[in-house]
Amino acid sequence: MKNYITLKKKISPFNKKIEVSGDKSISIRSVLLASQAIGKSKITNLLESEDVLNSLKVVKKLGVNFKKKKSHYEIEGLGISGFNNNKNTKIYAGNSGTLARLILGLLVNTKKKVTITGDKSLSNRDFSRVTEPLKMFGTNIKSKNNKLPVSISGSEFLRPIEYYEKLGSAQCKSSIMLAAIKTPGTTIIKAKQSRNHTEIFFKNLGIPIKINRKKNIDIIRVTGPSNFKSFEYFVPGDISSSSFFIVLTLLASKSEILIKNVNINESRIGIIKILNKMNANINFLNKRVYKGEKIADIKIKSCKYLKSINCPSKYNSAAIDEFLIIFLIAAKAKGTSVFKNLGELNEKESPRLNIAVNFLRKIGVVVKRSRDNIKIVGNPNLSLNGKFVMKNFMGDHRVCMMTVVAALSFGGEWKIYDINSVNTSFPDFFKLIRKLGVNLN
Ligand code: S3P
Repeated sequence: MKNYITLKKKISPFNKKIEVSGDKSISIRSVLLASQAIGKSKITNLLESEDVLNSLKVVKKLGVNFKKKKSHYEIEGLGISGFNNNKNTKIYAGNSGTLARLILGLLVNTKKKVTITGDKSLSNRDFSRVTEPLKMFGTNIKSKNNKLPVSISGSEFLRPIEYYEKLGSAQCKSSIMLAAIKTPGTTIIKAKQSRNHTEIFFKNLGIPIKINRKKNIDIIRVTGPSNFKSFEYFVPGDISSSSFFIVLTLLASKSEILIKNVNINESRIGIIKILNKMNANINFLNKRVYKGEKIADIKIKSCKYLKSINCPSKYNSAAIDEFLIIFLIAAKAKGTSVFKNLGELNEKESPRLNIAVNFLRKIGVVVKRSRDNIKIVGNPNLSLNGKFVMKNFMGDHRVCMMTVVAALSFGGEWKIYDINSVNTSFPDFFKLIRKLGVNLN
């Protein structure tokens, strides 16, 4: 199949109900935690994207069996000391920073050496943010320049650590928390707030955890060793995947969408807070709580008058995966928007801050940049003519989907390459775009 699409006109008005697939962060955590539970866990609505399928393959290689049933996955956990791999096992994390960093935490007690590899994008990313704290547990980790491949030989004599996680990285925090369940004693993490799905899972599973919040810092105490029983879980819809449809609807004319069963955990809804400050009026309906995670249906209507924002940095972590599309709203808003301290965006699957600035300039948007801060000069009449090609974005799934949203919102004739990249997080993306009436060829 060809790996590009062409788009030639703006999206026509639509009024639809959709459901997006399961949350990626929660899907990966549910697979990894099921691999550590004692007995058979049952996970429904698991996201079947490459990052999650790679998570299943990785635990399988470490001796954990799983079966795909009609409506769910069954994973046969072997307990916290159960990984059972051959000498010099190689595992492949593909594109997934979450998988690679979290599995390292689970491997602190591995009896035989494991080497983690990944694709080109993942092999460019920094692993010191997890290898440094994990070494403090007494485990043996080797890498060149803090990049993949990373090899780990676990220790039988782990000791608990105290660590200050300053980046606001949920991957780093979660990796340490997973190591802590294998380690005798209480590990203390002082963590800048970030998504808290691991904490919620731990509470559900009865893993000893205490959390004290002080301003934007969480003090998390996890006590191990702690085995836990298998569980049943229904993965809620992904707010990050939903966001492409939220922004597309806001920028379309006379359109409306209802997105059902989405995870609206406070630590993930930075985009909603930011867009509502920009006059978007996004509403949550049927709010409910499932095993500690908040869920709702999200209703969005097109918005004729969007206004600029001086975006408070306190939203950065909760909107970290959504800035690419938030910038599209800023490009169409009245006034100049300001976003600060976005250095972490350049640590993602591609250097997203650099890519976003180049992209916006390419479509004629005025962007001023100084280091990790940007100003976007909005133009409520933004509408494109002419031809545009999007390629060389390191196969970053979110850059690809952002470009599709921009093409359908602003017009112009587009050729977008590397469209298979959406399979990393959101294989149904183009199916849902078609459902909104877009003719893809
Ligand atoms: C994730 C955490 C975030 C996010 C990533 C998923 C997670 O990364 O960008 O897509 O599931 O923990 P960081 O921890 O690097 O901020």
